[in-house]
Formats: sequence, structure tokens, C-alpha cells
Amino acid sequence: MEKVVSLCKRRGFVFPGSEIYGGLANTWDYGPYGVELKNNVKRAWWKKFVHDREDIVGLDASILMNPRVWEASGHVASFSDPLMDCRHCKERVRGDKMIEQKLGVEAAVGKTLKEISDIIHREKIPCPKCGKCDFTEARSFNLMFRTHQGVVEESSALVYLRPETAQGIFVNFKNVLATTRKKVPFGIAQIGKAFRNEITPGNFTFRTREFEQMEIEYFIKTGTGVEHFEKWKADCWSFFTEFGIKKDKLRFREHDAKELSHYSKMTVDIEYEFPFGWGELFGLAHRGTYDLTQHSKFSGEEMNYFDAETNEKYVPEVIEPSFGMDRSVLTFLLDAYDEDEVGGEGRVVMRFHKDLAPIKVAILPLVKNKEIITGKAREVFEMVKKRYSAEYDEAGSIGKRYRRQDEIGTPFCVTIDFDTLEKDDSVTVRDRDTTKQERVKISKLLDLLSEKL
Ligand code: GAP
Repeated sequence: MEKVVSLCKRRGFVFPGSEIYGGLANTWDYGPYGVELKNNVKRAWWKKFVHDREDIVGLDASILMNPRVWEASGHVASFSDPLMDCRHCKERVRGDKMIEQKLGVEAAVGKTLKEISDIIHREKIPCPKCGKCDFTEARSFNLMFRTHQGVVEESSALVYLRPETAQGIFVNFKNVLATTRKKVPFGIAQIGKAFRNEITPGNFTFRTREFEQMEIEYFIKTGTGVEHFEKWKADCWSFFTEFGIKKDKLRFREHDAKELSHYSKMTVDIEYEFPFGWGELFGLAHRGTYDLTQHSKFSGEEMNYFDAETNEKYVPEVIEPSFGMDRSVLTFLLDAYDEDEVGGEGRVVMRFHKDLAPIKVAILPLVKNKEIITGKAREVFEMVKKRYSAEYDEAGSIGKRYRRQDEIGTPFCVTIDFDTLEKDDSVTVRDRDTTKQERVKISKLLDLLSEKL
């Protein structure tokens, strides 16, 4: 993890947030390569789950919503974690997570606040900061961020920053249905920010208070949940493996009944083996009719679907695949990191899938002080960048420039040398993974790149 965090800072993937002011705990800013990687992950996801399918459409709803939404969804009443304070050093901890780390998930799930306090004191689970076991009783801490809308800070103007993107989809169910005339089963997809006032954020971008989600609410006919759930399990798994995540680093984990969220009938996570252990990367939940029924009750609007073929009117059930965008990016970063040797020298190489790599092609003139070479290289750059995200780099030895591109995971480097001008009008194309080089005529370069990319 330290190596990836340091590479992210050094090469402009991820910077600590508000750094010149000493930072703000657990906030991170995506730099020039980070934002490209992140956009590529979102694009790949949108293509797979929206554009390549006929049954899913997109949405981009507001972060601020009517506060009644969160009463209806159950977040005001139930979206909380057990908070405990260390009396000795004042560290704030999540009781259930402390038990999970010491005794395993089974010991932590479904416990009441009293049971959590009892286990921690009985097992003498120490404070992660000072090592003492002297905590206040566990109390419920709601994770929603609150703010005020408008100029008056009074309770009537209280609004929440959304803790999940899902509710923006549920409240637009009827709008989307009316405008797209989709038939069940169909889904609505959304990518956007969510906010949770996590008690213990950490592990780089794994758990933060501001993050992005990529979620789908998939509306289905009553009673077909298990069949759709299984299909979604396979589709979501393949999103990660198609884009290069090693299969032996992924696993499914089913939630047992006590662990289920307030809205879920059935949940399975995809976990990744992070450097700090297995952690949730993605969650698939069978939400039943919970959300549409609740919104119907609280808003007074019917949330039904009318099946014209059977003349039936019903509230559809929902299967929800929920991806953490930042966690996916972190996983792609960690999984791509590799060290090997080239010509007897060590190198760091980010083996990103070509669709995710921030820069696809680097154009490198062999020398920077010969106008004739750099001029030709610029011509090639102008041609390539119209089709691919490309970078022109003339600073430093060619070996150093290759290393730099390896570190940001650029699949191909194109070198312009004296032979290009004097002999064959060809360039050298170097493959990031094999480091093999081949010569190709400039007139055929785009064909070769499009074949490879
Ligand atoms: N709508 C369902 C839902 O929000 P969740 O399991 O709470 O379910 C879904 O969150 C995904 O969002 C997680 O699998 C994770 O990838 C991501 N996520 C949740 N909390 C996060 C946080 N504090 N920081 C980064 N990602 C988070």
C-alpha cells in the first residue's frame, strides 16, 4: 500500500486533499493521471452496463434531496454505526469494527449497542491508538452529513448530503418509466458522489467521507429475484475480471441474515484482497419492494408498474448492484502495480488494462536538441492525439522516459529516431508489458495502434 500511495503522489494520480493547509483528514484529490483513470473506469462501467444493453438507462440526480426522502428510505432512523470514545486518549472508534478485527465478522454482526459494549469490555479489546481498554458505552451515530439550505440556519431548512445515489433513482422511477416506456425488467444507472460521516475512515481512498458510487436499480417482476440476483452476480464479477483484476484476489461473501441492511432481503459482496486484508469492493442487494413502497407511503404517489400484457399492476422488486467508484479505482491501481527487471535494471510498471490506462500512447523523440527529430515527433503526436489520449515527452534519456511511462501504465511508446528521417519514415513502437519493440511506417502507425488498442 505504501508503494502505491507514494507512486500516486509522485506521478500525479492522487494527492492528499488541501495539502498546503496541512490537509483535511482522509480527503484525497485526483491528479492529472488519476482523473483520466477514474473517467476511464466510469466510461468502461457505463459502456458495459448502459450502452451495451437495451434494458438500462442512465440518470444524474441531485445530491441535495427533500429530507423526507431520507425518512422514507429509513436512513434517518437506521443509517448509523455504534460509536465509542476512548476515555483515556479520546480516540473515537466503531465498536462493531473493533470486534470484527479481533474476533471476526461473525462475532460482530447483528449485535445490539449493549452487546457491543459488553464484548469489547469482556474481551478487553484495546484502543487502536493508546492500547487501553476504557471506553464509553456504545451509542448510535447517524452517518448522514447535515447542512442547511438557504440563508436561515433553522431546522426547517435542514437537508442531508445523500449517503447513497440509489434514492435519486427511486424517486425518479415514475419519470423514467413515463419518458422511456421501458418494460420490466429494466434498470436505471447512476454515477455520482455520496457522503457519509464515517467514524473510522482510512486505508487511503478505501473508506472516505466523500466518495463516488456507480449504482443500478434493476426493477423486476415479483418472484423473479433469485434468478436475476444470480445473473447480476456473474455480470458484476466479470466487470472486474474483464478489466484485468486477478481472479484469485477476488471472492464473493454472502451476508447472513443478521448482517443485512435495513432494506435488504439478500446481499452478497465482492471482496478484494487489499494489502490490509479482504475488504468490500462491491455489494449486490435484493431490496425487494422496500424503497418504492416506502416512497409511495411517504409521498402519497403510486409507485406501480402496469403490465399491459397481463393487465397487472404491481410494485416491482429491485435488485441493486452497487459499485464503489473510488474503491474500484484503488483496486485497479493496486492490482496493476508490478515490479520487474528490464536489461538488468529494476522497474515499476502499472499493468493497467489498455481501456483504463490514463495515457494510451507516448510520443518520444530520441533527442530533444535536433529540430528535425522533434519536428517529426510533433507531427506524429498531432496525428495520434486526435484518436488516443497521448503525451509528448522529450525530457531526459530515452530509458528514463520509458520508465516514466511504465510507471503511469502507458501501453505503447512511439520513438522517432534518425532512421525515421534518413532511412525508412518508420517509428519504433514499444510494448509496456513485454518491452518488445517493432518498427512500423508512420503511414501505418494508426492502423497498428488501433489493432492493439
Ligand atoms: N445503495 C447501496 C449502498 O450504498 P453500500 O454497501 O453501503 O450500499 C456500496 O455501498 C459501495 O459503495 C460499497 O461496496 C463501497 O464500494 C462503496 N462505499 C461505501 N462506503 C464507502 C466509503 N465510506 N468510502 C468509499 N467507498 C464506499
